[in-house]
Amino acid sequence: MTSLAGKAVLLIIGGGIAAYKTHELVRLLKTRGARVRVIMTRAAEEFVTPLSLASLSGEKVYTALFSLTDEVEMGHIQLSRAADLLVVAPATADLMAKMAHGLADDLASTALLATDKPVLIAPAMNVRMWQHPATQHNVEILRRHGIALVGPTDGEMACGEFGPGRMAEPGDILGAIVTMLTPKARPLAGRRVIITAGPTREPIDPVRFISNHSSGKQGYAIAEAAAELGAETVLISGPVSLPAPSGVRVVNVETAREMLTACQDEMPADIAIFTAAVADWRVASEAAEKLKKTEAGPPNLALAENPDILATIAHSGMRPSLVVGFAAETEKVTEHATQKLKRKGCDIIVANDVSEAGGVFGSDRNTVHLVTSTGIESWPEMSKQDVGRKLMERLTELLTPQQKAME
Ligand code: C5P
Repeated sequence: MTSLAGKAVLLIIGGGIAAYKTHELVRLLKTRGARVRVIMTRAAEEFVTPLSLASLSGEKVYTALFSLTDEVEMGHIQLSRAADLLVVAPATADLMAKMAHGLADDLASTALLATDKPVLIAPAMNVRMWQHPATQHNVEILRRHGIALVGPTDGEMACGEFGPGRMAEPGDILGAIVTMLTPKARPLAGRRVIITAGPTREPIDPVRFISNHSSGKQGYAIAEAAAELGAETVLISGPVSLPAPSGVRVVNVETAREMLTACQDEMPADIAIFTAAVADWRVASEAAEKLKKTEAGPPNLALAENPDILATIAHSGMRPSLVVGFAAETEKVTEHATQKLKRKGCDIIVANDVSEAGGVFGSDRNTVHLVTSTGIESWPEMSKQDVGRKLMERLTELLTPQQKAME
């Protein structure tokens, strides 16, 4: 049982029926030795009482922003400053909307805006409120702000409906808190990792483009793994519909040429991983106006070669210590990857089979082969998240002795 002795949690209780579960959460946190201070929204007071939470936490419970005595004893800034972690449970749709948009009209939302501490939220609401595009958009914004979520889970709800929206159980919220408060090994702290991901989009005219089916999932998973290991992580992404991984800076680009410029601007780096499915060709001259159908038949589009981003960076004076390329092949996967390793000047090629049998594009799973100058290592099929983690662990091992030798 991991102890939370010496850790302080600021628990912000929103107004929802799930608020009753916070009694158990406070009890569990106290059992682990954490200090728990509680802020309740006005609506939360309709579901649970400040007195019960004061008894369980052994601390004064803070309820209103403009209570002068509270402000004298412990200002709202001070409340979040004294905490190691802020936990919002239940995080109602309203509270999440306020957080996403920086509103601060009561003590709870002000404390959340005034903090630079990690924040964990446990959403709880009616299924339709959770699924509403407005809420989903707010979830995406909160994730981009680095806020962690636990739940919601599927199940029968107090309103009689069934589906996602139930608040995570107190034990699961405690688990997420323990994970966030336990220092992780950060072997890549102080290192910089650049990753390209997704497709590129090459315009034909103002409304048409050439692109491909890359979902960006593998590159995003690698970026998430790099950030988890403590690296300063920059993800240079073509157009995809994925949320930014937490702790990662995303640079959005469209064309191959923009992607190359972004990569050059982000150098130097210790590791560069090129997962993007860069379009090999672009239309030589993009039409300024939408091309019209004419009697003369379809237009002849002259194509021009795009820059090879990976080869350009790998052969440049600003080459990172480790350069990793991907090879999406439909046949003779490892043979082509071995040739690519030399031609492109990288240290590792991660080869995968994108033939229909391989089924990688858009999928959540991947089967890869690591090709280096010394051999080929085939990994079993696993999730793209696991490929990301395993690859980043391997790169960490390769980078660290190299750096040690130079010191
Ligand atoms: O030559 P091919 O497209 O198969 O090479 C794939 C690898 O090269 C991937 O790592 C991809 O991100 C990178 N690449 C690139 N710029 C290009 C083409 C490919 O960085 N123009």
